[in-house]
Amino acid sequence: MKKTDLKNLLNDMSLEEKVMQLVQIPGNEFEKDAAVTGLSDKKSSDKVKKLAGSTLGVWGAEKAIALQKNYIKNHPHHIPLLLMLDVIHGHKTVFPCPLGQGATFEPEIARKGAEIQAKEASSEGVHVTFSPMADLSRDARWGRVLESTGEDKYLNGRMISAMVEGYQGKSLKDKEHIASCVKHFAAYGGAEAGRDYTNVELSEHTLREQYLPAYEEGIKAGARLVMTSFNTLNGIPSSGNKWLMRDILRKDMKFKGVLISDWAAIAEMVNWGFATDMKEASELAMAAGVDIDMCTGCYSGNLLQLVKEGKVSEKLLDEAVMRVLELKNDLGLFEDPYRGASVEKSLKLCLCDEHRKVARDAVRKSLVLLENKNKALPLSGGKIAFIGPYIDEKKIHSSWAISGDPEKNVTIEEAANALYGKSDVKVKFAKGCNMLLNKTEIGFGAYEADDKKNKTLIEEALKAAKWADTVVLCLGEDLGQSGESTSRVDITIPAPQKKLFRAVSEIKNKKIVTLIFNGRALDLEDIPDKSDAVLICWRPGTEGGNGIMDVLSGAYSPEGKLSMSFPWASAQEPIHYDHYNTGRPKPKEGLSIFSSRYLDCPNEARYPFGYGLTYSSFEISKVKLSGKTLSKNAGSSSIEASVTVKNTGDVKATQTLQLYIRDIAGSRVRPVKELKGFQKVTVEPGKSKKVSFKITEDMLRFFTIRNKFESEPGKFTAFIGTDSETDNGAEFELI
Ligand code: BGC
Repeated sequence: MKKTDLKNLLNDMSLEEKVMQLVQIPGNEFEKDAAVTGLSDKKSSDKVKKLAGSTLGVWGAEKAIALQKNYIKNHPHHIPLLLMLDVIHGHKTVFPCPLGQGATFEPEIARKGAEIQAKEASSEGVHVTFSPMADLSRDARWGRVLESTGEDKYLNGRMISAMVEGYQGKSLKDKEHIASCVKHFAAYGGAEAGRDYTNVELSEHTLREQYLPAYEEGIKAGARLVMTSFNTLNGIPSSGNKWLMRDILRKDMKFKGVLISDWAAIAEMVNWGFATDMKEASELAMAAGVDIDMCTGCYSGNLLQLVKEGKVSEKLLDEAVMRVLELKNDLGLFEDPYRGASVEKSLKLCLCDEHRKVARDAVRKSLVLLENKNKALPLSGGKIAFIGPYIDEKKIHSSWAISGDPEKNVTIEEAANALYGKSDVKVKFAKGCNMLLNKTEIGFGAYEADDKKNKTLIEEALKAAKWADTVVLCLGEDLGQSGESTSRVDITIPAPQKKLFRAVSEIKNKKIVTLIFNGRALDLEDIPDKSDAVLICWRPGTEGGNGIMDVLSGAYSPEGKLSMSFPWASAQEPIHYDHYNTGRPKPKEGLSIFSSRYLDCPNEARYPFGYGLTYSSFEISKVKLSGKTLSKNAGSSSIEASVTVKNTGDVKATQTLQLYIRDIAGSRVRPVKELKGFQKVTVEPGKSKKVSFKITEDMLRFFTIRNKFESEPGKFTAFIGTDSETDNGAEFELI
């Protein structure tokens, strides 16, 4: 539809019709088996159901087509309905959770994954995905970190923009792509005490420097929607925060698309004590520029009245409605309201071999090897006992893979049998214990304890362990222990699994390889000390078992790097590598009294951001700089920082070189290091490769005392290493 026709359509609509374009109702009001991802009391009137501009949680070509057909028929202007869904890390083919994708340090993996998700979801009638989540996640106790790509703004920004590009493609007219919604604006990950939905207190410079950049990268990549967050920011709920939404999002970041509230976030402003009732909440949200009210009666029940009373101007209403109509138009819905949804197409595309292949590659690249003593991995054959609740667990995706089918996931047992079935490697499997102690430990997912008692299960497992040369322990968090509203004060693995681990690790002369399935950074307690190898598997998704066996068997050398620091203890959170130094930093050696420290725990992470081993070893040369000065005013001035990377081991492997910069002194104190670039290199044994990064003035900018992004002349250190604790640095100066 041409712009002028769209304008004419708007002018022809009644006030009520306009208001209803801004109303989103839950999918289960249309379809009984739609996904419900928030509290819903299913109470929309027939009129709201007839006019609401969008819904969420419905997928499936047949259902989507029937719903659209019926809706358009009844709508006075036959305007199509927008169908939205949380396609977060997979529609049918499920990829590693975003935190795992972050660990690949490979934006192309995220882009390809998003493209496949868009293909599959669009074939099933989905128009918009509520993804990616760009929330900076520095506290592993916050249950929702798995949906982010981690603790670093730069890595997140790279991954987020790749995802937006993957979902949306070059044009939304291309029916194999869908619109992307960057969420949750803003600073949702900074929740006080790690609890979901709480207040966030942030200084403006930390907000702008650390929290906002990843959202902005998504917006620059063209994301068509943004979602508000549940939290307050310095006392103001996001959905009513005019400064955040109008000044920062719309003006500074130049966002032109649709702003949607999170589920019930407008109504929740009443609970927060920011609005007295839903009417006032609606007025505040409209003033802040929130276009769509997700799943409450705020707009449907109050907006018309507010316009009539002049509390919300018709101009404001029209602007919001136009943004929604433009999105529908750009998706091509006026010409083809079914937008390529087709049962045949979805059967052909969903979970096809090609998609599974990409997912398997993503799994291999996301796995992070934390320990590998005496080259315990790769497995060398003989007798292997796979033990633990994750050996045959189908639920290896996350609670945010809502349209995925766990039955399609490949378990460790299935993959190991496929790999070793016809070889002379002998394998045994024993569950060893239940996943959790009891039902009270779970969150979003459903957990059913096994009938068998832990005691019997452990006995069977110990028998298998005694028989074996190598024990592969498959442990971790239950699906329901990470995701939305699943914050924990104790981020260790569940009690029955600890007991199993300890019992098995006491058996002498066994090689112990521990796999951890997790949706967050964990306190691993005694696992690293008592295991020969530890592999972090995240929530790996459909091809989990296969990708993991590729790495365990040595068919693929691990290359993942931690996207989030792992602490020594649950209470050592929040922890992130890019902290400030303090006036009394703890000395590396010697007496630390009167320094900034814990008495009972190191300051540093147990495994820092960017860390991960390969099956080889590398020597990284000292950093070489092409010059010692960078000129602030000569636009194209740059310094090349380089190292030589030598593979000193005996297998081909991929190493990720990370460039960090430290600003030695600034008008505001600066983090001890900040990631500014990364590159992956694959090197044959005995061979070397040069890796270089270009350092330019814009990489040195920060939100200064003058409240703007700019660089300040002075000294800097450029570090290049294989994790965030590298001290391989060289100094340069900005003049
Ligand atoms: C979540 C959002 C999600 C929405 C719709 C909310 O509970 O916070 O991330 O997109 O539900 O499912």
